[in-house]
Amino acid sequence: MSVVTAADVEKASGVLTVGQRDVITPLAADRAKELGIKIERSSQPSPAKPPPVDLSSKPPRRGAAPVVLNAPTSTLSGALYRRGAGVPPALQVDNLDAAAPADPRPAAGVIGAGHVGAMTALRLAETSLFSRVTLVDIVPGLAAGLALDMGHSASLRGFTTRIEGSAELSALAGADYIVVTAGRPRQPGMSRTDLTGVNGSIVTAVAQGIRLYAPDSVVVVVTNPLEEMTHLTARTTGFPPQRVIGMAGVLDSARFCSLVALTGVARPQDVSAIALGSHGPEMVIPMSQATVNGRPLEEALPADQIDAIVERARDSGAEVVKLLQKGSAYFAPAESAAAMVIDMVRESSRVQAACVQSSGAYGLEDTRVGLPVRLGRRGVREIVALALTASERTALAKAASSIAARVREMG
Ligand code: APR
Repeated sequence: MSVVTAADVEKASGVLTVGQRDVITPLAADRAKELGIKIERSSQPSPAKPPPVDLSSKPPRRGAAPVVLNAPTSTLSGALYRRGAGVPPALQVDNLDAAAPADPRPAAGVIGAGHVGAMTALRLAETSLFSRVTLVDIVPGLAAGLALDMGHSASLRGFTTRIEGSAELSALAGADYIVVTAGRPRQPGMSRTDLTGVNGSIVTAVAQGIRLYAPDSVVVVVTNPLEEMTHLTARTTGFPPQRVIGMAGVLDSARFCSLVALTGVARPQDVSAIALGSHGPEMVIPMSQATVNGRPLEEALPADQIDAIVERARDSGAEVVKLLQKGSAYFAPAESAAAMVIDMVRESSRVQAACVQSSGAYGLEDTRVGLPVRLGRRGVREIVALALTASERTALAKAASSIAARVREMG
């Protein structure tokens, strides 16, 4: 018995006669189909084969022309490449890149390849709005491995964004949008403010990298405690206020809308509400802006039920942490961070909540707090003036002053 290879097929003309018990490799069968060669089995012993190639010789240099074992000098078969043979220089990725026209789509970066970061990167890539998404994590190999794995799903999901991974912040060079998720998640029993010390030093280091390698980027901060980390990022990068935005309001609003929908009053997407103030105890969900299918929410649900839902939305992060025992929420946070960046690229006219610098809006001065905004390609396009009630304005002002006190405390 012998093995019939593609090379044997290529040497044949018209018909290739093989022994009855010979093994025909799938590649040989493919090649025979391509060349129109018929493979026939006979009762005769296998035809003599050339001696095997010495595989102990030196491996080819990286980037050198491919070595094809037993191949004739004629044109190489497409089948050989499909089956993982060496790729000719013209088809190697680096050379393709050099030859490709510049991709006009923006580039995104995600710092921290943990639960939130990895999911955010994938969500961004899946839109195909970006030329590349670069994932960076301090743990060697983590971002590169995840990026490779995600990239393998491109043909299945049908996206064209390239996903790269690195342990170096310099890989973010040229990024237009950066999502910061680096840090430690909250552990059970740990308050958001407990995290300030740990995550403060991580975020400061990361922000220095952003300033150096992606000085024109728009930064979305996800790391908690959110308001403090957004403030630190803004201070360290020195970027203008519209280019440093905290992600919290989108998540808190989404949680509230989903919880309202759980009552059965409407589908989640038919509930509209906006969570302002802080990503924590001072969250403010103005009922003057909350609707179900366009009708005031207060007409659809009793006040005590709405209050209970507001409270549950406010504590949702802790509720998830308690159930998980290890780590914190990431599906909805990642979806929210990605939604903000996508809105920027699409110049969506949607009003959404984000932690931004207010310079006079809602009577607030020099505070970073959750406010309604419209986002655009360069970050915050405008802070939207909603017709809040007097008590809602007061609650917002209280939230802003608590945040300002925490930021002062942080130093
Ligand atoms: N540079 C880059 N990456 C870092 C750095 C750093 N200096 N320090 C830590 N990281 C990485 C960790 O290696 C880890 O992979 O950040 C990642 C954080 O991932 P997880 O621990 O899985 O945390 P995650 O659930 O993603 O939450 C990240 O988002 O929602 C917030 O409260 C959450 O602050 C937390 C952040």
